[in-house]
Amino acid sequence: SIEQTLVLIKPDGVSDGKIGQVIKRFEDKGLQLQGMKMIWLDEALATKHYQQHQGKKFFERLISYITAAPVVALVLAGESAIKVVRNLVGTTNPAKAKPGTIRGDLAISLEHGNIIHASDSRETAAKEIELFFASEEIFTY
Ligand code: CMP
Repeated sequence: SIEQTLVLIKPDGVSDGKIGQVIKRFEDKGLQLQGMKMIWLDEALATKHYQQHQGKKFFERLISYITAAPVVALVLAGESAIKVVRNLVGTTNPAKAKPGTIRGDLAISLEHGNIIHASDSRETAAKEIELFFASEEIFTY
């Protein structure tokens, strides 16, 4: 069925000039862009977004990484969009992500950043979309 999912092009993706390449891959796949904005996360929003990682070893690093520069937030829609986007993105660690995936092709290692975030389930997608977008900022067309 048709799903919506949230993508963040992270600070390293934005700073290193990967925005266009990342969006092109989603457009080429046939996903529909329903929302798009640049936003600089503060600590409060970053902490909300990464709530499920609170208490983990890398949490502090994760918050400073995601707040280091602006991100580009996207709402993408399409058939099985959550899984389709996760497949295009590749595994969390860019060193292990397969060639052909966004992380496999455009990022080198977790230490340098994995350039992108994508919702991992319907429940997470709904929460994350609501966290980053007001309903009037999402367009169905
Ligand atoms: P993301 O898909 O945004 O979800 C959580 C993020 O935490 C992940 O991408 C990475 O950026 C980061 N992350 C996950 N595991 C580790 C780790 N072991 N060390 C550092 N960062 C991590």
